[in-house]
Amino acid sequence: MKFFVDTADVAEIRDLAASGLLDGVTTNPSLMAKAGRPMLEVISEIADIVPGPVSAEVTATDAAGMIREGKKLHAIGHGRNNNIAIKVPLTPEGLKACKAFSSEGVMVNVTLCFSAAQAILAAKAGAAFVSPFVGRLDDIGEDGMALIDDIVQIYSQYPSFQTEVLVASVRGPEHVVAAAKLGADICTVPPNILRQLFSHPLTDKGLAAFLADWAKTGQSIL
Ligand code: G3P
Repeated sequence: MKFFVDTADVAEIRDLAASGLLDGVTTNPSLMAKAGRPMLEVISEIADIVPGPVSAEVTATDAAGMIREGKKLHAIGHGRNNNIAIKVPLTPEGLKACKAFSSEGVMVNVTLCFSAAQAILAAKAGAAFVSPFVGRLDDIGEDGMALIDDIVQIYSQYPSFQTEVLVASVRGPEHVVAAAKLGADICTVPPNILRQLFSHPLTDKGLAAFLADWAKTGQSIL
C-alpha cells in the first residue's frame, strides 16, 4: 500500500518526507485555503520535495476551463514522467477533462467519488487515481469502506482499468488498516493521522524498559 499525505502544509510535507514513507501528496482547494499561500508556489515547493504524484486540483467547473488550469498546474511538475496529477471533480465535465488529459499521458486524480458507479466512469475516463471519500460517507451514516470493497472488486475484474484506488477522507488509523485489508492501492492521510500510525503505547513502554535495563549494564555499543 502506498501512503500519500493529504495536506498543503509544506513544512509538514518536508518533515514527513524525511521518514522515507511518503509516496505522494494530495491537495484540494480547502487545504489550499487553510495553507493561506499562493497555490502555484505551494504546488511547486511540494513537487520539489516529493518525487511521487502530487495532486493539484482545478477550480473551473467546465471541461475547457479545467483543461486550461490543469495545463498550467502540470507545467509545474518535475521528473521523467512529470509528478503533477491533475485533480478534477467527478462530474461530467470533470470526466471530459480527465479523458483529454489521460489521452495525452497526463495523470488525473478524479476526486469526490461517492459511488461504485462513479468509480467505473473514472476508470473508463482513464484516471490514474480515483478518490473515494470514506470519512464523508461514514459521516452521513453510510459505510465508506464498503465502497472501497466494491471498487477494488470491480476494478480487479477489468485488467484494462489502470486506475488506482486512492482512499481519501481518512479519519483514523482504522481506515488505513481496513483499506489495506481490502487491497486498496493508496491511502491519502492527514499528517496527524499518518503520525498516529507509528504510535502504540506498548512500543513506548517496551522501549523505555529496554533502555532502562541496558543502562544498568553500563555498556555502550559504540
Ligand atoms: O483530499 C480529499 C479528502 O481527503 C478530504 O477529506 O477530511 O475533508 O473529508 P475530508
